[in-house]
Amino acid sequence: MSILLIKNLYAEVDGKEILKGVNLEIKGGETHAIMGPNGTGKSTLASVIMGHPKFIITKGEIILDGKNVLDMAVDERSRAGIFLGMQNPAEVPGVTNSDFIKTAMNTRSEEGKSISLFKFIIQYDKAVKELKMNEDLPHRYLNEGFSGGEKKRNEILQMKMLNPKIAILDEIDSGLDVDALKIVGENITKMKSPDLGLLLITHYQRLLEYISTDYVHVMMQGRIVKSGDQKLIERIDQEGYDWIKEELGIDDERVFIEEEEERIILGTCATKEALDL
Ligand SMILES: Nc1ncnc2c1ncn2[C@@H]1O[C@H](COP(=O)(O)OP(=O)(O)OP(=O)(O)O)[C@@H](O)[C@H]1O
Ligand SMILES: [Mg+2]
Repeated sequence: MSILLIKNLYAEVDGKEILKGVNLEIKGGETHAIMGPNGTGKSTLASVIMGHPKFIITKGEIILDGKNVLDMAVDERSRAGIFLGMQNPAEVPGVTNSDFIKTAMNTRSEEGKSISLFKFIIQYDKAVKELKMNEDLPHRYLNEGFSGGEKKRNEILQMKMLNPKIAILDEIDSGLDVDALKIVGENITKMKSPDLGLLLITHYQRLLEYISTDYVHVMMQGRIVKSGDQKLIERIDQEGYDWIKEELGIDDERVFIEEEEERIILGTCATKEALDL
C-alpha cells in the first residue's frame, strides 16, 4: 500500500503564489475528492504533484512511500507510480496513441526488457472495449482531433494500462456525456484496490455517484479549507460554497485577491485622473 503525503506545500508561478500551505495524505485504497470554486488552485496542486516545471515549490514537502517526490523528474514520478489524468490533455501530433502508451509501459519494465507486443495488444484491446472507445483510436495521433469526451476516456485508458499507485484525475468528468460519465465512473471504480490511492478533482456530485469517496476536501485561496465525507459534496451540490465561506470568514476564495484589489484601486484612480483632466 502506497502513501502520498503533502505537507505545508507552497508553490508559485511567475512570482505569484498559488498554493499556500496544502496538507493532504492519500493512502492506497482511499478515494479523496477535491472540490472548490474556479481558480482556487486545484489543477495547480495536481500539476505540482506531477512535477510540471513551470511551478516553483517555495516551501513544504511531497513524499511518496518515504521518498522525496520533489527531488524526482516527471518521468521518475510516473515510474514511481504517480499518474495524472489532465483537465486539458495535450495533443501530440506524430505520436500514435498506442505507441505513446507502449513506450510509457516499456519504461516501467526492467532495463533491457520490453512488454511483449502480443500481451500489449490484448491488454490494450480489452481496455478500449471496456471504455467503449472507437477502434481507430489506438492508431490515431495522441489526442489530435479527439473530441472532449474522447480525450477524457483516453486519460482513463492510459491509467488502466499503467496501473498507477496514486492517480490524480483532474475534472475527468468534464466534457463527458451521461453515458460516458457512467462508463468512466464504472471503469475507475473497477480499478479500485488497496494498491491504488485516488484523488478526484471535480465540480459536481455526478461523477461521485459512480465512484464512492472516503474523503471530500474543499480548496479555497490555495489551500484545503474544509474536509468531510460524502455529505459535504451533497451540501455543496445543493447550496454552493457561500455557506463555507461564511463559516470560515472567507470573503474571496481566489488565490490572487490582493493583486486584483490593487488593480481595482489603481483603475479607479486612473479614471478619476482622466476625469479631472
Ligand atoms: N502559468 C500561470 N501563470 C499565471 N497564473 C497561473 C498560471 N497557472 C495557474 N495560474 C493561476 O492560478 C490560479 C489557480 O489556477 P488553477 O488552474 O489551479 O485553478 P483551479 O482551482 O484548477 O480552477 P478550475 O476549477 O477553473 O479548473 C488561477 O488564478 C490561475 O489563473
Ligand atoms: Mg482546474
